[in-house]
Amino acid sequence: MTAALIGVGVGPGDPELLTLRALRALREADRVFAPVSDPEVEGRAESVVRRAAPEVAVERLVFVMARQGTARDTGIAEAAGRLVEHLDAGERVAFVTLGDPNLYSTVSSVVAAVRARRPAVPVETVPGIMAFQDLAARAGTVVADGAEVLTVVTGLDGTDAFDAAVADPAAAVVVYKGGHHLPELAERLRQAGRLDGAVVGELLGLDGERVCPVAERAGEQASYLATVVVPPHRPERGAP
Ligand SMILES: C[S@@+](CC[C@H](N)C(=O)[O-])C[C@H]1O[C@@H](n2cnc3c(N)ncnc32)[C@H](O)[C@@H]1O
Repeated sequence: MTAALIGVGVGPGDPELLTLRALRALREADRVFAPVSDPEVEGRAESVVRRAAPEVAVERLVFVMARQGTARDTGIAEAAGRLVEHLDAGERVAFVTLGDPNLYSTVSSVVAAVRARRPAVPVETVPGIMAFQDLAARAGTVVADGAEVLTVVTGLDGTDAFDAAVADPAAAVVVYKGGHHLPELAERLRQAGRLDGAVVGELLGLDGERVCPVAERAGEQASYLATVVVPPHRPERGAP
């Protein structure tokens, strides 16, 4: 096999949601790396791999889980340097990530840093089940149907993007990285008449998992690893 970098989505947390293709990519890789914030502590994506494929050896790459800044850039540069060493040795190198590698994933930054050093290295991604899909299934929520719109926002910049999305009653809204804003999101949904039917899933498939209506956690922040799904307003179907 020739050298390649493969970004592998492992799903949100439940090892049963790691796809057969992901499993094959992990088993065929010469090396599997997982992002961690502490080299002594098992990472979330690493834990999925260990439960789904205990025979696969996972090596840790330390990242600073900040949005931007020198420490984050340094972490990505060091990680890319380590991957390049193995790519230069002709290895197939897998880098795992929670959910899907093409949606809000460290994979894109890592790939960019590797490509800057080795433009000719082939890069592939293996899709993973996204957190909001798992939440929709667990909560029994139809995210979008027919001509309904789906808008995905993050809570990183506060609630402005969320407010704009919720203003369209025909749009389903998915919120990533918004756990810390859960009380504000709940209040805005209440004001927009869209609190009923909105669900939140925290640590899906991982220790501490919690899935419930947003209304039940309206007064409580959730952690970073929380996702919200707000279905479109569907008066013709009764509710929400
Ligand atoms: C860096 S993004 C990763 C998204 C991921 N690539 C995906 O496709 O779902 C992190 C955000 O994804 C969501 N997320 C990822 N894994 C999750 C899980 N196990 N439970 C709940 N939300 C999760 C949360 O909204 C979290 O803030």
